[in-house]
Amino acid sequence: MTIASIILAAGEGTRMRSKMPKVLHKLAGKPMVWHAMQAVRGLVDSPPVLVVGFRADAVKAAIGDQAAYALQHEQLGTGHAVAAARPILEGKADQILVTFADMPLLKKTSLVDLIALHRSGKSPVTMMSFIGEEARGFGRVVRDEAGHVTAIVEQVVATPEQLAICEYNVSAYCFEAAWLWSALERIPLSPKGEYYLTDVVELAAAEGFKVASLVLDDPDDAIGPNNRVHLAMAEKVMRWRINQNWMLEGVTIVDPDTTYIESDVVIGRDTVIHPNTHLRGKTVIGEDGQIGPDTTVIDSQIGNRVELISSVLESAQVADDVTMGPFCHLRKGAILDQGVHLGNFAEVKDSYLGVGTKMGHFSYIGNATIGRDVNIGAGTITCNYDGEKKHPTEIGDEVFLGSDTMLVAPVKIGDRSITGAGAVVTHDVPPDTLVIGVPAKEKCKLEKSD
Ligand code: UD1
Ligand code: CA
Repeated sequence: MTIASIILAAGEGTRMRSKMPKVLHKLAGKPMVWHAMQAVRGLVDSPPVLVVGFRADAVKAAIGDQAAYALQHEQLGTGHAVAAARPILEGKADQILVTFADMPLLKKTSLVDLIALHRSGKSPVTMMSFIGEEARGFGRVVRDEAGHVTAIVEQVVATPEQLAICEYNVSAYCFEAAWLWSALERIPLSPKGEYYLTDVVELAAAEGFKVASLVLDDPDDAIGPNNRVHLAMAEKVMRWRINQNWMLEGVTIVDPDTTYIESDVVIGRDTVIHPNTHLRGKTVIGEDGQIGPDTTVIDSQIGNRVELISSVLESAQVADDVTMGPFCHLRKGAILDQGVHLGNFAEVKDSYLGVGTKMGHFSYIGNATIGRDVNIGAGTITCNYDGEKKHPTEIGDEVFLGSDTMLVAPVKIGDRSITGAGAVVTHDVPPDTLVIGVPAKEKCKLEKSD
């Protein structure tokens, strides 16, 4: 028995009032369609067939070669959309799982249960529903006295009695493939000029099949954002799920309501995440850290026992035992080695800071390579940009940069050298040398102490 999957993603999503297709709006940092792909991953025997239409290229670019694509030229409804996948799948699978890309909270476990329920019965279609308080425009599930589903009625065409039904259609189905292809040809045109996939349920019931529905326990699984209010509701549920997962994995989250962790982030045990912290992109955080409050980490690798307070890190690498903040900014290519300490108002870009180096107060380090155990005095600046090009600064081990040192790049400072307060260093400084003044001149050689 082979099973394939179709995910519908061709609609514009007019209710979002957006230039972007609805399914590319993000939850926890990933497009809704990405979440829909995750849910079916591992359940089907071939790459999911994504039905695309409105801004198809943008949707394809977001998913890449993880899916096969069927183009629905005109968006004539969900039944019409499923039919677009027929040329790719007909004869290739016995059963077809159909889901919608705008149902990003559906769990893989629910789809597993749906497939099992389908396989336990004889109907060519098995559906999924939930009992809820808010209709949010969903189709109503009509059942007969025996409890079998006889139809799904769309809100726009429902009678007042049908509108009062509070069992709603989720839009996840398992079909016998051969029956599905023929049923799609028999869907009538709706009063709104669309071919509704929901009508196949009525066709099956009319043929005498007993259609079963998997009723979800958690109505949150079925939040399908049709507008941005629903999107915010879905984001909240997704955020809670992600936070809950990390808490169960051994991460302390002091205030889950103000902790925003995107889907791909990884966090080590016994790390504490403080309020108003945003962990985004491909961020990895080690164990025993103290992250936040008020901290944003994007696409960065953070070691063990790291403390970050009120800081922003973007595409940075931070080794074990680093402490930082408040108010530091690590930009692209900042690499801090073990035990580095940044105090307040430190900015680092495209630079390496060696083991144990300290930079306590308001400094800018760009395009620099800095050795170990360097003291970067308050107000130190790498003057790395001459208006056209960026130039490098190299600083050796155990250098002491006095307060307010200006390093006019390109420039090198040898091991153990010292700059006086306010020095403007325009020429290379050899090792073991004290320089002072503007521009900085050699004052004396330093005695080596061992
Ligand atoms: C649909 C269901 C409704 C269900 C609800 C919940 C139908 C007719 N209605 O309504 O019963 O309660 O989902 O999920 O199926 N799409 C296409 N091509 C089209 C039209 C839509 O690919 O021609 C895609 C959209 O991109 C979207 C999905 O199908 O991912 C659903 O479309 P949408 O317009 O949001 O349907 P609903 O009104 O929510
Ligand atoms: Ca929808």
